[in-house]
Amino acid sequence: VIYDLLIKNGFICTSSDIYPADIGISNGKIAVIAANIDSEFSKEVIDAEGGVITPGGVDAHVHVDEPLKLMGDVIDTMGTATRSAVAGGTTTVIAFASQDVNLKGPKALSESVNKTIEFCQKEPLYCDYGLHLILALVEETDNACNVLDKQLSSLYKDQGVSSVKFFMTYPGLQMSDYSILNIMYATRKSGITTMVHAENGDIVRWMTESLENQGLIEPYYHGVSRPTIVEGEATNRAITLSIMMNTPVLFVHVSSPEAVEAIRRAQTMGIKVFAETCPQYLILSQADTKCHYGHNNWFEGAKNVCSPPLREDQTKECLWRAMDNGTFTIVSSDHCSYLYSSKYRGKHNAFDQGKSGKFRYIPNGMPGVCARMPLDFHYGYLKENISSLMKFVEVHCTNPAKLYGCYPQKGAILPGSSDADLLIWYPIEDKRGHTKINNRMMYHSCDYTPYEGLEVKNWPRYTLSWKC
Ligand code: URP
Ligand code: ZN
Ligand code: ZN
Repeated sequence: VIYDLLIKNGFICTSSDIYPADIGISNGKIAVIAANIDSEFSKEVIDAEGGVITPGGVDAHVHVDEPLKLMGDVIDTMGTATRSAVAGGTTTVIAFASQDVNLKGPKALSESVNKTIEFCQKEPLYCDYGLHLILALVEETDNACNVLDKQLSSLYKDQGVSSVKFFMTYPGLQMSDYSILNIMYATRKSGITTMVHAENGDIVRWMTESLENQGLIEPYYHGVSRPTIVEGEATNRAITLSIMMNTPVLFVHVSSPEAVEAIRRAQTMGIKVFAETCPQYLILSQADTKCHYGHNNWFEGAKNVCSPPLREDQTKECLWRAMDNGTFTIVSSDHCSYLYSSKYRGKHNAFDQGKSGKFRYIPNGMPGVCARMPLDFHYGYLKENISSLMKFVEVHCTNPAKLYGCYPQKGAILPGSSDADLLIWYPIEDKRGHTKINNRMMYHSCDYTPYEGLEVKNWPRYTLSWKC
């Protein structure tokens, strides 16, 4: 016996190839790939029955509970988020630590991240994880870029955190262009990846006030307050700032055709611009923020309030095309789960103290770490919105691992290098893979899934996750 596990009769699909082969696994690593490995060389054997085998999913945009709670009281912890991830075929998640603005000194950012690591490790985790850092405050002084550069360099050295996110919207988090230049100067110098949430926060504020003054407060108007040009403008501006600083940037959760166009143009000019989109923008639409699900509750659309908001139905085609033509580098879930019961009556409720259910008080975000892989396998690959299964693997597994520094340990199936994080899918046309999504199968802590009732024609039959 040589191998701990042997997978036979599958088609290996990576970001570059698809071919029939057997896989031998030892000590949680891919040990060998070869034709017809004899079963007697392994302690255990799985028959893939002609199904495809892909790397486990890498979800590079997941919000979990953490000490600073910049995103509010999301209900999933690292424990329950990794459980939910594995239930849907994602075997690595990259979540967020937040900057503690009360900490000062040269290691303040490292200390912020340390607190989050300690917090996340209090409970059992179901798969490997990484962290980005959310920047909450960057002083508007001319020395701030040098201070930040030193902090980011030690953050990378001490904790291996190689990416930061900043916001161009959200009260209390919105960065001025001046601060953005300071961030970009520092991230370029320290070699840190810069993630941008691009929406023009001033337009959002003006529109929110105007809509409220007209009595237009329902969840649907959240989307009206931040139309696609709001994202397009901020994307253009951030690209301009990144050109000034010669800093590569990654636009997270891109949902707007104007933003896609700006990103594509910049990429064509040879500027290092990367972009992420999410299943909710590819599959749902602004109609899902209206009262539906057969309920008669005008607030129900609050379940699908996120930023950027869900868009018109026609936008989906533009986003799928951008995935297929390489404009989008990665697809992540932006999992950010608030209990609907809490949005309605509990901690995050939008009704207490004269709030009257106004959309501005609904916390932004929806759960999705579990459903990302099966949803996009079905709506992307099986429905031919993308042209190959290799493209699916590239943007859901391989590219996020490359972008955030965990390739080829993650996102690949390479003997001697890759962890044996693998998905064995049902053979195409095999009815056993047909699944109607419901909230129980998400294995998260949230009390709803935005994808309730959707039917997909495949679901990972086996998810192998070997934790480091
Ligand atoms: O609505 C969203 N996207 N919530 C999560 C926070 C963020 O901006 O990514
Ligand atoms: Zn964001
Ligand atoms: Zn997010």
